[in-house]
Amino acid sequence: MGSLIWFSQILCLSFMLLQFRVQSSSPSQSSLDSSPHLCRPEERSALLDFKSTTNLVDNWFCTPRPIIQTWNESKDCCSWEGIACDKRNGHVIGLDLSSNCLEANLTTNSSLFRLEKLQSLNLAYNYFRYPNLSFGFDRWKSLTYLNLSRSGYMNGSFLFDEIFLLPKLVSLDLSNYYGLLLDNIKFQMLAHNLTELRFLILDYVNMSLVVPSTLLNLTSSLEHLSLRANTWRTQIWVPMSSPAPTLAATPSPPFDLQNNCLTGPVDHVEMPNLILQEVYLSNNEISGSIPSSFFDLVHLTRVNLSSNNLTGTITPDMLSKLVDLEDLDLSNNSLLSLSNNGIGVNHSFPNLRFLIFSSCNIHKFPSFLRKAERLEILDISKNKISGQIHKWEIEGMSSLYYLDLSYNFLTGIDLFGFGNLEIVDLRSNILQGSLPILSTTQDSMQHLFMSGNNLTSVIPSSYCNLTSLKVLDLGNNCLGGKIPECLGNLSDLSDLDLRMNKFHGIIPNSFVNGSRLRNLNLNGNQLEGRLPSSLGNCSELEVLDVGYNSLNDTFPCWLGVLLRLKVLILRSNQFHGAISNSMPAFYFPQLRIIDVAQNDFMGLLPSNYFKILKGMRDVAPADKAKLEYIGDNMQAVKLKAKYIFQALLRRGTSPLSRGASVSPIALKFSVKVVMKGLEVKLERIMTIFTTIDFSSNRFHGEIPKELGELNSLLLLNICHNSLSGQIPSSLGKLAELESLDLSSNKLEGRIPEQLTKLTFLSVLNLSHNELVGHIPEGKQFSTFSNDSYVGNSGLCGFPLTKKCEPPRPPSPQFDEEDDSTAVFEWKFALAGYGCGLVLGLSLGYIAFTTGKPWWVQTGAVDFLLRGDLATVAS
Ligand SMILES: *[C@@H]1O[C@H](CO)[C@@H](O)[C@H](O)[C@H]1NC(C)=O
Ligand SMILES: *[C@@H]1O[C@H](CO)[C@@H](O)[C@H](O)[C@H]1NC(C)=O
Ligand SMILES: *[C@@H]1O[C@H](CO)[C@@H](O)[C@H](O)[C@H]1NC(C)=O
Ligand SMILES: *[C@@H]1O[C@H](CO)[C@@H](O)[C@H](O)[C@H]1NC(C)=O
Ligand SMILES: *[C@@H]1O[C@H](CO)[C@@H](O)[C@H](O)[C@H]1NC(C)=O
Ligand SMILES: *[C@@H]1O[C@H](CO)[C@@H](O)[C@H](O)[C@H]1NC(C)=O
Ligand SMILES: *[C@@H]1O[C@H](CO)[C@@H](O)[C@H](O)[C@H]1NC(C)=O
Ligand SMILES: *[C@@H]1O[C@H](CO)[C@@H](O)[C@H](O)[C@H]1NC(C)=O
Ligand SMILES: *[C@@H]1O[C@H](CO)[C@@H](O)[C@H](O)[C@H]1NC(C)=O
Ligand SMILES: *[C@@H]1O[C@H](CO)[C@@H](O)[C@H](O)[C@H]1NC(C)=O
Repeated sequence: MGSLIWFSQILCLSFMLLQFRVQSSSPSQSSLDSSPHLCRPEERSALLDFKSTTNLVDNWFCTPRPIIQTWNESKDCCSWEGIACDKRNGHVIGLDLSSNCLEANLTTNSSLFRLEKLQSLNLAYNYFRYPNLSFGFDRWKSLTYLNLSRSGYMNGSFLFDEIFLLPKLVSLDLSNYYGLLLDNIKFQMLAHNLTELRFLILDYVNMSLVVPSTLLNLTSSLEHLSLRANTWRTQIWVPMSSPAPTLAATPSPPFDLQNNCLTGPVDHVEMPNLILQEVYLSNNEISGSIPSSFFDLVHLTRVNLSSNNLTGTITPDMLSKLVDLEDLDLSNNSLLSLSNNGIGVNHSFPNLRFLIFSSCNIHKFPSFLRKAERLEILDISKNKISGQIHKWEIEGMSSLYYLDLSYNFLTGIDLFGFGNLEIVDLRSNILQGSLPILSTTQDSMQHLFMSGNNLTSVIPSSYCNLTSLKVLDLGNNCLGGKIPECLGNLSDLSDLDLRMNKFHGIIPNSFVNGSRLRNLNLNGNQLEGRLPSSLGNCSELEVLDVGYNSLNDTFPCWLGVLLRLKVLILRSNQFHGAISNSMPAFYFPQLRIIDVAQNDFMGLLPSNYFKILKGMRDVAPADKAKLEYIGDNMQAVKLKAKYIFQALLRRGTSPLSRGASVSPIALKFSVKVVMKGLEVKLERIMTIFTTIDFSSNRFHGEIPKELGELNSLLLLNICHNSLSGQIPSSLGKLAELESLDLSSNKLEGRIPEQLTKLTFLSVLNLSHNELVGHIPEGKQFSTFSNDSYVGNSGLCGFPLTKKCEPPRPPSPQFDEEDDSTAVFEWKFALAGYGCGLVLGLSLGYIAFTTGKPWWVQTGAVDFLLRGDLATVAS
């Protein structure tokens, strides 16, 4: 979610910059005309004086080349960038210094006010202070365009006192003017004095004291009004009545009040002289049903009422009155329904392109849309739609390319030969029987999500004819048969997820050279044989999960050439033999998760490999803070968001002015890992997550001291083997380690004192070994219980009841200061915790500490779990 917000902010910025450029170019046109009057000397010197009083500041929104720097004194000032002159008399009439990041103190005698003929002034994105609380704007009697967006700071509303004195003002943008307050009286004056005003943008201006209904005094002349992110909580104001216009009027005001907090029932408020085309009221708390008069606003083209508390039922009759309607977003109104009443009538929606109605209360597929032949995006996910969707209900939507019906109760859908679909999301329904058959002409299909259903067929070979396919997500079904060999030929396929099904036979050895495969998840099937050598062709592979199958092979050293491989899970198969310890040129340079547990490996642990797993060492703090997920970096495929934004951009609409409320579908690269004794499904794998699990095999020999070099390792599990010798003290260098499980081996000697340096360690299991002597004391070791040590008859000291004889020698001094702030509250039900024991994870067992930065307090795994649970919960 965080990155989506970030994404929209970036978009927001780029639109603002775009807007500035357009505006700055238009006035300067006049200076390009032939034989213009030259710049007037007094205005030229005013400009140069102004330049001399400014400093340049550096910030992210600044243009790389501030135009004020380019003003060349030996040239006519009318030819300077950002300046527009009246070609008849040479007066400067336009000045655009937006995004120059200038810093200046403006007083009433500032040279800028000597440009008395100014008509257009854009100072957006600068740092101007007005130390005197008076501005001098009164000298700009001709000003029609004024943009002070994000150009200064003021505590109060003085600025308006001078803006009222600009009677010709047509366009005013004061958005993001820090500290600016607009109260009711000043707002009334604004409405009264500025009779020419047609564009008014007051986004993020504090208008909490303005009675919303006062806005009505403005609207008669306005064409564009934007008041985002205000804080009205107590009153509702929605334009719900049609003026019954007779003439096609000039562009009418988009009505943009998103992110306010409007509450209460929807009222009927008259809006005279207004031909409303756009209504943006998302993220308020509007309750009640949408009044029928709303649907008399027949000129509406874009409506966003998402994330409110609307109730009631929208009928086809209501919607079909809005013949101009293009985009409708009513998502996140959990009590709002859509009915099929009057389905016999031929409703047509000639212009409808987006219908977003997710997380509402719809029980039936809206068959009345079957004639919506321009519909491109239909999202009715997370509703209560049950039963079968028949072909006649959708086949008329011939422009549809995005269909999201996920999280409903559908039992079937007929998609054969239908439309130009690119994304179909049917996850988490109860689809029965065969996978939907697709025809060879449906080769526009790129993303097919059908995981979490009850499908029982084989994968039809016709799916291999979907040559554009990028994502095939069929996990968590009851699909069977063999995996079609031809899937390996799909050269665009990047994500093949067949986990938790009943596929048997071998993994086809058909992955072509140049394959784009990034995620191959076959976990939890009945696959046999060897890992196919053609996987070596998949140079983009990041995640390979073949856990819980019946594969019989030796360790796939040859996968070490896959330079991007981050996750390798071979858990619970019949892999066997020794893992060779020779050193090829490339060996898993990015590997972060390796899980070979529950196989039949033997021999020594491959100490040389541990030395070169670069993905687990020296992870830079900056990378940790980034919170990236594997397969989900900053340019991540937020499919839905991407599609909708792109579609809007294609139509030349700013997605922000529309306020598209899209929730991202992150590409799923989820795997299960055993963390702290619990098997946990990670919906998304954080790139910093690092784990080594070699447990439940037949490894023998000593624990390689080289493991201590993997200083970014979070979890180390080598329990249930036959390891002997002492615990290497180098493990004390695993500074980030949170879970260490060495239980059920034949380890002997003392527990190294160095392990007390592991300040993030919250799970320690050394049980069932042959350890002796004092258990180290202090720091994390004061938090471990008996369970960590049982089955070592030679151990003594806290927390065991057996006292040490003679008493514990003084512990060696470590040079780090005592970090007693690293307190953990990892409250699993640890009783019965043991190696290999797989428990279900229950939210109730975990309490997370909050408040401090995650890496200071809770450690990355706890944070990871918290993030993961949050995504599951949301
Ligand atoms: C200003 O313009 C003159 C004449 O075109 C040119 O010689 C000079 O290099 C310019 N100065 C700067 C700083 O660009
Ligand atoms: C503006 O005035 C403040 C003090 O009031 C001063 O510190 C600052 O340097 C001035 N800035 C400029 C650009 O003159
Ligand atoms: C502006 O006026 C103030 C006081 O009125 C004076 O101190 C300052 O020097 C003046 N600045 C200029 C640029 O004339
Ligand atoms: C503010 O401006 C007035 C003139 O408009 C001047 O008399 C006064 O000294 C200025 N105050 C400051 C602090 O610059
Ligand atoms: C603006 O409105 C205020 C109050 O209504 C009035 O006193 C003032 O004269 C008006 N100014 C102009 C220029 O109309
Ligand atoms: C509009 O302005 C008039 C003053 O001219 C005021 O009496 C009226 O209440 C205002 N309308 C609203 C809805 O505030
Ligand atoms: C929506 O309405 C329900 C019941 O009327 C209420 O419990 C809930 O808190 C409301 N949600 C918001 C966000 O206002
Ligand atoms: C899944 O299908 C099987 C057999 O077809 C059926 O017994 C079972 O009830 C179905 N499960 C659900 C959740 O519909
Ligand atoms: C796939 O396409 C090829 C060529 O267009 C065709 O010969 C073949 O029959 C198709 N396979 C299926 C299963 O539709
Ligand atoms: C694994 O395959 C080998 C032959 O390649 C066979 O001898 C062995 O029995 C198989 N192991 C299992 C557990 O099936």
